[in-house]
Amino acid sequence: MSFVFRTARARTTPLAMRLAQRQPIVIRTTQFRTAATKAKASSSSTKKAGPIPANTRSDVSSIISTIKTIFFSGALAVVAYGGFMAVTDTRFSTFHRYVVVPAIRYLFPDGEEAHHASTLAMKKMGELGINIRERGNPDREGDLAVEIFGETLWNPIGTSAGIDKSAEVPDELLALGGSYVEVGGIVPEPQEGNAKPRLFRVVSQNALINRFGLNSEGADRVAQRLRERVQAYAKKVGLGSGAAAEQAVLNGETGVPPGSLVSGKLMGVQIGKNKETADDIESVVNDYVTCVNKLGRYADVIVVNVSSPNTEGLRDLQAQGPLTRILSEVTKAAQKIERKTKPKVIVKVSPDEDSQEQVSGICQAIYDSGVDGVIVGNTTKQRPNPAILPDEEKHILNETGGYSGPQLFPRTVALVGKYRETLDKEAERTGAGKKVVFGSGGITNGRQALEVLKAGADMVQVYTA
Ligand SMILES: Cc1cc2nc3c(=O)[nH]c(=O)nc-3n(C[C@H](O)[C@H](O)[C@H](O)COP(=O)(O)O)c2cc1C
Repeated sequence: MSFVFRTARARTTPLAMRLAQRQPIVIRTTQFRTAATKAKASSSSTKKAGPIPANTRSDVSSIISTIKTIFFSGALAVVAYGGFMAVTDTRFSTFHRYVVVPAIRYLFPDGEEAHHASTLAMKKMGELGINIRERGNPDREGDLAVEIFGETLWNPIGTSAGIDKSAEVPDELLALGGSYVEVGGIVPEPQEGNAKPRLFRVVSQNALINRFGLNSEGADRVAQRLRERVQAYAKKVGLGSGAAAEQAVLNGETGVPPGSLVSGKLMGVQIGKNKETADDIESVVNDYVTCVNKLGRYADVIVVNVSSPNTEGLRDLQAQGPLTRILSEVTKAAQKIERKTKPKVIVKVSPDEDSQEQVSGICQAIYDSGVDGVIVGNTTKQRPNPAILPDEEKHILNETGGYSGPQLFPRTVALVGKYRETLDKEAERTGAGKKVVFGSGGITNGRQALEVLKAGADMVQVYTA
């Protein structure tokens, strides 16, 4: 009974206060000894057994109470440690899904604010070393390992562009367990993007509509951040600081890919064009090449974005002529990067330009320019049937922007299959090597990931749901 009472009190009184209120154990022990000695002396002088003095009883109970406090604090520390290990482990996804996500939605009614707050939290947790991560090696047998771009990756799962537009948390994203992280899209000059609000939740469908419009801090700022990251890594592994150390890391001298800085993983850097850039192909090409020159040395993979639905005219660049030109120039620029191994180049396409004619034109551009593959695909301008939405959400479908989320899944499977078939036919016809296909759009679980892989993808990327 007394234990129950003390435990309840201990729970409601902060540990620090309780400890501050106590006398140091040593003093109390001395008092006990003194009391005990006095008692002994008195008993030996009278030679009579009597009741234990009151102050001795109180000292004994004080010690018992101290032991209980220590025990309770220890138990609390174990529980806190266990809790910390659980909530920072990706395998405790039930907690993240059913507690963290609803809490963030509640605290931040605006989706973009929620995104920034989450990114900041990831960054701060990363700095303190308490970021969420995959612990241990759940795939000891290497069953999930895949070979992409000559690298053996841990698994064929990655995250999509738009999660970390300015490369603030690539390491924290890589720690989540996937083998591929794509930062960006980044454009040459800083640009605000479209007016806010520009991100809308379709909660009942776990979906989003966004019209960010490639908001970006610009290539210089992001390149600076990536440079500092490489230099910090060089210092950490004992190469020292400065340009020589940075170059050594980028040349692969530490045995890790120069982008991800983690063996068995890759980092893509996605590039685009500024909204204000003139429409002529020279200006457009110049934007992409500028990005390659500034950012390419920090990338394992350069991703050419010609498919965001929120930059006017961008998707027109998927026509075979301009696309071949852009991809050829990007490939040439990538080959000139001062680094032992050059970054691979892939292009991210839209799921809306999906006729066989359009797909064939893009595949032709991929082969003619010599890029290494394709990401299929970006957000869609299409909308699901409003009938599946509750009445209070139907109006959200009228927002302009790209739709993402589970409803994209069947189209992703179909389009990945179409690209795989068309690319492979071209490979056969020309005798050129096979191209890599990444699948993105509505992939929400392992079964779906497998389905997209079976349809012909080498890697799947996740974002919205
Ligand atoms: C808020 C938001 C921002 C995005 N930004 C980009 C971007 O900058 N570049 C890009 O290629 N795709 C961007 N995407 C598209 C995703 O990378 C992904 O291709 C798309 O959301 C489909 O996948 P999902 O259904 O798994 O989200 C963005 C998506 C969202 C939801």
